[in-house]
Amino acid sequence: MFVKRIVVNNFLSYDHADVTFGEALNIITGANASGKTNLIDGIYFASVGRSSRHNRDKELIKWETEKGARVTLLVQKKFSRHTIDIYIDPQGKKRIAVDNIPIQRMGELMGVLNVVFFSPTEMRLVKDGPSDRRRFLDISLCQQSKTYFYTLQRYNSLLAQRNKILKDYRGRPTLRDMLNVVDADFIRCATFIIQERKKYVEAITPYAQREHAKLTAGKEELNLQYETEPVDFNDIAGSLRRLLNEAFTADARLEYSTVGPHRDDLKITSGDVDVRRFGSQGQQRSAVLSLKLAEIASFKARTGETPVLLLDDVLSELDADRQKALFDAVKGMQTIITCTETDQSKETATIFEIKDRQVKRID
Ligand SMILES: Nc1ncnc2c1ncn2[C@@H]1O[C@H](COP(=O)(O)OP(=O)(O)O)[C@@H](O)[C@H]1O
Ligand SMILES: [Mg+2]
Repeated sequence: MFVKRIVVNNFLSYDHADVTFGEALNIITGANASGKTNLIDGIYFASVGRSSRHNRDKELIKWETEKGARVTLLVQKKFSRHTIDIYIDPQGKKRIAVDNIPIQRMGELMGVLNVVFFSPTEMRLVKDGPSDRRRFLDISLCQQSKTYFYTLQRYNSLLAQRNKILKDYRGRPTLRDMLNVVDADFIRCATFIIQERKKYVEAITPYAQREHAKLTAGKEELNLQYETEPVDFNDIAGSLRRLLNEAFTADARLEYSTVGPHRDDLKITSGDVDVRRFGSQGQQRSAVLSLKLAEIASFKARTGETPVLLLDDVLSELDADRQKALFDAVKGMQTIITCTETDQSKETATIFEIKDRQVKRID
């Protein structure tokens, strides 16, 4: 699939921009702080319904304006085309329409446009804490499945309820009954999330291994494993119930839930080495690239479509070999790259330049 066109109004640094992309390689150039990432963020926003770097939708409205912000995208798939339209009103509330029909629930946006996003933050995916690796799994899974998206939302709200009860528990032991009520649903959602994440990790593992072997000329192997506390995968719900009970006294003291998939991780090893903690920088970068390329390959295998690849400022972080591996892997898919300068010619890429808050195509 590919993004044919994006139109933004009053969005981040843009008054108005209207960009028609090519179906293959697109390069967005411009000085620092010219608005390259903002444009990529518009595409990301239309894909997953949230910005890649702003927590509140209101922050996406252009500063010092009274109007709301709007992002409209035309998406071309193999057998269909779609429009995604998101309006953020001046209060920061957003309204989304897909093919001109307002959607009632965010889940309906999932999967209309699939992107794989790669930025310097993603480069730290392997090295940083577990929350980034959970997000890697969750973003992919949400784009694949509305059920996953809704279950994750529900889980997060149950987790918040649970923590609130734990916090109030000290003076009011009768709250234990309320906790049991919340826990029935909490365990159901947690079980589903763990199962789906584990399945996904197993699905991308062979692709990640293949990419990693290519990147390291067969010298290193890579292994992925979903790391979770209930190790009995035949009875996740039962394990969770037992673990929640065991942890109860400590959790009530901490006023926080220490059991559940919000604590899980993706384990990445090469031989006996835990790449997350002990990998060299080179190993960690190869592992990130392998994970991202595996995300693309498994998406292709599952859907017969290619996702849109967004590469924000990462080329400079990859050496020549890794850049080549990346370009080999993304042949045939729409790729949108930002960088300050490019040596690509307009024969091999569609090139844009951002200047004075305007996006211009270079012909
Ligand atoms: N809500 C906003 N309204 C207006 N300008 C904004 C807003 N948010 C960020 N900017 C501006 O966007 C610019 C950064 O754009 P960015 O896309 O990160 O640049 P680049 O990726 O080209 O380095 C900064 O100059 C910042 O002031
Ligand atoms: Mg940038």
